Amino acid sequence: MATNTPNPLKPINEASRRKVFIETYGCQMNVNDSEVVLAILQDAGFALCSSISEADLILVNTCSVRENAEQRVLGRLDVFRQEKKKRKVLVGVLGCMAQRMKEKLLENESVDIVAGPDSYRELPRLVEAAGLESKQMDALLSHEETYGDISPVRMDSNGVSAFISIMRGCNNVCSYCIVPFVRGAERSRDPYSILREARSLIDSGYKEINLLGQNVDSYRWKNPENHAEKVDFARLLEMVALLDPTVRIRFATSHPKDMSDGVLYTMAMYDNICKHIHLPVQSGSNVMLERMNRKYTRETYLERISRIREIIPECAITTDVIAGFCGETDEDHRQTISLFNEVNFDSAFMFQYSERPGTKAARQFADDVPDKVKTERLEEIISLQNEISLDRNLRYVGQVCEVLIEGPSKRSAADLVGRTSSNKTCVFPACGHKAGEYVNVRILSCSSATLKGEIV
Ligand code: SAH
Ligand code: SF4
Ligand code: F3S
Repeated sequence: MATNTPNPLKPINEASRRKVFIETYGCQMNVNDSEVVLAILQDAGFALCSSISEADLILVNTCSVRENAEQRVLGRLDVFRQEKKKRKVLVGVLGCMAQRMKEKLLENESVDIVAGPDSYRELPRLVEAAGLESKQMDALLSHEETYGDISPVRMDSNGVSAFISIMRGCNNVCSYCIVPFVRGAERSRDPYSILREARSLIDSGYKEINLLGQNVDSYRWKNPENHAEKVDFARLLEMVALLDPTVRIRFATSHPKDMSDGVLYTMAMYDNICKHIHLPVQSGSNVMLERMNRKYTRETYLERISRIREIIPECAITTDVIAGFCGETDEDHRQTISLFNEVNFDSAFMFQYSERPGTKAARQFADDVPDKVKTERLEEIISLQNEISLDRNLRYVGQVCEVLIEGPSKRSAADLVGRTSSNKTCVFPACGHKAGEYVNVRILSCSSATLKGEIV
């Protein structure tokens, strides 16, 4: 089993380390997986490098959630092929697309290694064999793998905020979604390994921990040695929050059918659990929700929203939505528009439906909304949400918010950027402060995406 404590019997000569370049697409879980991959490869004698021209090994960690995510990676493989013409370098495709396409990717002349999300412990072996013999592939999904014993090596981190995956896979079968096929069955990680990882992040100065899962509300762990000891998500959240009151906890993603009042009460109880819930709705129409197999209705979704606002009045709520799913009529679309008007989300990730091979939707329903109509509907949702986001942000103007500083602002070195507990990005003059500090900021103005203010 790979661990990332160096083997004392086999010292690694730093200068002789081979260089690996890692590029990551997709969701936060994929970002965290790349950190696990780096931990495994460092242990096997690799060092991270920052450009493909230095690399002995190029890895691309991929996403399959929509077709354009895959197209982007195929474009990158062409770039890597040019690099391979110049010199000897191995190219590996990791992640969801590796799992979905398997042999098909291996046929691509750029690709030497294909490894799915549960195969990362095999990477050192695959890389050796690919260097010596021929192309290598491992894309077996596991029911147990959680990488719980591996301490991810943080990349591109601001040193303030870090991810911890608390579970892997997904047991839902939303009809449009490829994730269960490429990530396998849901597994919850041992809470004590989560607490150890959180503790070590806190000890190295991190101030914000993001707990990740496709459906965190179904986190469930039973002690194999003592079946009476059970941990659900509300309890896990509390255990992590109790580690250090000065460290913020965030989590994603919540599922409307599973989000319990227990989680809401826990959030309300601890100041350091951030007041933000990402609750994907996908559609405002019951006909679409049924066809998507989401297992809730517009009415029960709105009931969850009311409960959040009752228990945590200051909580920001964000969502995901899909425009133009199979058979979506104008009336279904109007239902989505009316739900957006009713809820007033703080922000949203908005997508056009993209058919994914092998999903229930691809097998059973026609992808029959013309592209032009999908685009029009998406644009209507985006422009409405932009207005609502601005309106939500305007409520903050005049208020003082506690902001955790993440670093210098991209626009000006004299400004800092951070986030409020409600996950609003906030920009303000530095006044001698730095990343990792909490400051109170009076909000003076805003756009639909950002708050601007000054430290008080
Ligand atoms: N586990 C999370 C998110 C999964 S993927 C959840 O259950 O909500 C992130 C988002 O991508 C989804 O919420 C959905 O809005 C979008 N998405 C997933 N499959 C899609 C598809 N085939 N076409 C367009 N958008 C899709
Ligand atoms: Fe996909 Fe649904 Fe699982 Fe989210 S809950 S990852 S949308 S199947
Ligand atoms: Fe994430 Fe994309 Fe895979 S959203 S789980 S990287 S398909």
